[in-house]
Amino acid sequence: MDNKYSHVSKEILEKIEYYRNKGHKVPKLSMIKTPEQIEGIRQSGVINTGVLDAVAQNIKAGMSTEEIDKIVYEYTRDHGAIPAPLHYGGFPKSVCTSINEVVCHGIPNEYEILEEGDIINVDVSTIYNGYYSDASRMFVIGNVKPRVQKLVDVAREALRLGVEQAYPYSFLGNIGYVIQQLAEKNKFSVVRDFCGHGVGLEFHEDPEVEHVGRRNRGMLLVPGMVFTIEPMINMGVPDVFVDEEDGWTVVTEDEKPSAQWEHTIVITEAGNEILTY
Ligand code: MF3
Ligand code: CO
Repeated sequence: MDNKYSHVSKEILEKIEYYRNKGHKVPKLSMIKTPEQIEGIRQSGVINTGVLDAVAQNIKAGMSTEEIDKIVYEYTRDHGAIPAPLHYGGFPKSVCTSINEVVCHGIPNEYEILEEGDIINVDVSTIYNGYYSDASRMFVIGNVKPRVQKLVDVAREALRLGVEQAYPYSFLGNIGYVIQQLAEKNKFSVVRDFCGHGVGLEFHEDPEVEHVGRRNRGMLLVPGMVFTIEPMINMGVPDVFVDEEDGWTVVTEDEKPSAQWEHTIVITEAGNEILTY
């Protein structure tokens, strides 16, 4: 019968049934995007990548995070898109800028100046034709201590290894597993309080993508699922707190640095495609 999910092939439906019967958590059919929706998210992702490239070309010591916000806002607007963070749940700016011990959701402002030795996560999310994409990168300002550079590099490698585990009939737990293994092997820790997420038709959709996990546990992955992987790796303890003043800024409990990289990906028949390259 024709219905809302008639784009989901018989083969995929049968696989889902098979894994459900074996006791696995399986995706709801609403998590499986149509080819048209995936193309829309892909186009959103192209603009999102353009924003991050524009930031990369301009970021430097002496600049305020407010100036980063301006680059993001103007590039996004000039490409016919909307910055997803702006007014999202009351967030006041177009981008999250998270320096050193700030884990995520830092709010740009004109008094916060980038200094030599800082690391900063710039987290950009774009709405284009109603489709959402989401990605972040770290930027290193001048020379940083070797252990801090290592943190940035391990967080990036953690994302790469996580993406490698995202293929049809793998499980979300495999993504978390490889991220946690790499972080802990390097004597770093993985933030538990914030996760990756489904994305595309809304900013944050199901499923939750944890950055710790166990092999072959957690939700089954099937072609058409679109989600972020965005590991937050801490130099010290994994615990974090939210700044009470602004209600957004997430900071490490021990005030040691944190690093994060993020991509939006789609599960394909062949494996996956990164939509935010
Ligand atoms: N971009 C963040 C993420 O990766 C979400 C930021 S919500 C905001 O999920 F309101 F702070 F922008
Ligand atoms: Co995200």
